Amino acid sequence: MERVEICEVGPRDGLQNETRLIPLAEKVALIDILSRVGFRRVEVASFVSSKWVPQMADSAQVMAQIARVPGVTYAALTPNMQGYAAARAARVDEVAIFASASEGFSKANLNATINESLARFAPVAQAARRDGVKLRCYVSCVTDCPFDGPVPPDDVARVAAALSDLGCHEISLGDTIGRGTPQTIDAMLDAVLKVVPTGQLAGHYHDTNGRALENIGASLARGLRVFDAAVGGLGGCPYAPGAAGNVATERVARYLTAQGFAHGLDVGLLDQAAGMAWAMTRRDKHDISDN
Ligand code: HMG
Ligand code: MG
Repeated sequence: MERVEICEVGPRDGLQNETRLIPLAEKVALIDILSRVGFRRVEVASFVSSKWVPQMADSAQVMAQIARVPGVTYAALTPNMQGYAAARAARVDEVAIFASASEGFSKANLNATINESLARFAPVAQAARRDGVKLRCYVSCVTDCPFDGPVPPDDVARVAAALSDLGCHEISLGDTIGRGTPQTIDAMLDAVLKVVPTGQLAGHYHDTNGRALENIGASLARGLRVFDAAVGGLGGCPYAPGAAGNVATERVARYLTAQGFAHGLDVGLLDQAAGMAWAMTRRDKHDISDN
């Protein structure tokens, strides 16, 4: 059976948007259960300005207190050298830089134009290479931007190519506000695949319009085999108005099984983690039996 990797991003992309400041112990407990589910990678922290994202201010403590499971890569966002240094000090295994395909979101999320952000990422990429730290990259707003509207596929390809040139081992394509459709995702992939090989791409789809699973389906058809998801469908992005949760990990796992792919996750334990995530964010349990 062909394997698809689900990269769990709930503790970062999920929790960063919560208005209630989640206590450190709750974050650690969630990550500790996720570490036993079978993920190869869990994104657990974000070394960004605490003025911009207060929820992630305790990222160093999170890293210090989790029970690391051998074989699991613990990842974190690093927007600049200050973030990279903090991530290194916290012994993060994989760092991620994050650019946008649209100028409006780049300004709102990073206080920089796309080109300025790429220039800021270059020393991070260089340092990661020097230190032997794995480097992941995100491209946000790959189909639609909350400020600029529909995003031309060629703009996504240009940013993806620039990030690939920086030496990212993987580029995660973000439908930040969950407005993508199988058609727009396919058109975007058509452009990106002309400049970056399939094996270097991941899909990162928010589920605002309930189409994330279909978008994963369109991406599987294009050969992508890595998808980001957040346990319990946690999340959103504080600088993307209207961004609802990431697609729920437990739904992606069931979808992949139904499509005949192996994912290697313990779905019973994953459902337990989803229950914990809902309790932390005081959400209602959504129906996980819908596919
Ligand atoms: P800025 O205000 O232009 O930066 O923000 P600055 O260099 O002028 O610094 C301002 C202050 O922030 C200074 O502190 C710095 O020290 C501090 P002050 O002197 O005022 O006390 N600072 C930092 N503190 C901690 N860690 C750092 C850091 N850097 C500066 N790394 C900046 C620029 C990039 C810092 C800011 O815009 C920022 O932090 N942005 C991050 C926003 C964010 O985290 N958004 C959510 C993640 S992206 C996302 O969710 C999308 C994704 O999921 C994919 C998708 O769905 O599309 C990845
Ligand atoms: Mg996201």
